[in-house]
Amino acid sequence: MSRSLEHRAVIDRLPSRKQFRRDVIKGLNREQKTLPCKYLYDARGSRLFDEICEVPEYYLTRTELAIMDEEAHNIASEIGPEAVLIEYGSGSSLKTRMLLDALDDPVAYVPVDISQTHLSQSAAAIAEEYPAINVVPVCADFTKPFELPYELSHYDRRVVYFPGSTIGNLTPRRTCKLLRQIRDLTGDAGGLLVGFDLQKDRDLLEAAYDDAAGVTSEFSLNLLQRINRELSGDFELDQFRHQATYNDVAGRIEIELVSQCEQSVEVSGRSFTFDAGESILTEYSHKYTVEGLQSLAARSDFGVSRVWTDDRNWFGVAYLTADNS
Ligand code: TRP
Repeated sequence: MSRSLEHRAVIDRLPSRKQFRRDVIKGLNREQKTLPCKYLYDARGSRLFDEICEVPEYYLTRTELAIMDEEAHNIASEIGPEAVLIEYGSGSSLKTRMLLDALDDPVAYVPVDISQTHLSQSAAAIAEEYPAINVVPVCADFTKPFELPYELSHYDRRVVYFPGSTIGNLTPRRTCKLLRQIRDLTGDAGGLLVGFDLQKDRDLLEAAYDDAAGVTSEFSLNLLQRINRELSGDFELDQFRHQATYNDVAGRIEIELVSQCEQSVEVSGRSFTFDAGESILTEYSHKYTVEGLQSLAARSDFGVSRVWTDDRNWFGVAYLTADNS
């Protein structure tokens, strides 16, 4: 037990407490206060996010699943046989299974995740259900370049799967950088299958990020609770309000925690002051048009080879391949 825990501590790529503290203090010292969204997902945050996926207003998960259900076979034939499927994040098990079921003779499944615990669990489950597929988990931060295990390097059709609209949480600059890294990894014969949310009516978008039951608000405020617990903070949770606004010029939902009064908060022995109405920006969630996605792809040497959407045109799944045109 202690040996395996020791082992885990070494290979886990989760940020340390020290890193968390550094990021929080840096973010709260900025002119526009920010907190990096990756810290939303502690144990409680991950549970709350699963609950968000079930609230009626949050159409994203449901719609992406419906597209996969409807189109998995078309997607699989676009990808081709004997693919090495590399998933960025290992949480979306149902969509993964739909894809693995539809693919023609996939040779390997490579989940990539920063949490070793998460990774081992989901990899073991897939390995048991798909005995014919070589499951090779990789513990890495996929926003940085990483290498595929040597045993897989001789397979040409390397396909990255990046579902869940997570791409929308990156800034356009980071998105481009990530797409280039993926382009390097997948080479000329592979591709990228990516889920992305489409631009739509403001009311629908804002409701998806501020549901009536208040689950999203809890999820958002949980970040302050985590800071209180892990970094000796004294945020008063009822003095901050969750807010989601659609910025239709930038095409993104902006998620903020808004101070309800003038106040000062301590974190790790440091003091931060807030004006009434001043906000902490925690996350962007970009919403695309198909043309917008095409131009992002083009900037990274990718071409959009096909896009699948739902009947209402709310969400898209795109297959990007080497742009040899
Ligand atoms: N990837 C999700 C999205 O952009 C994350 C998310 C959903 C989220 N709801 C949220 C992040 C509320 C912060 C707050 O749709």
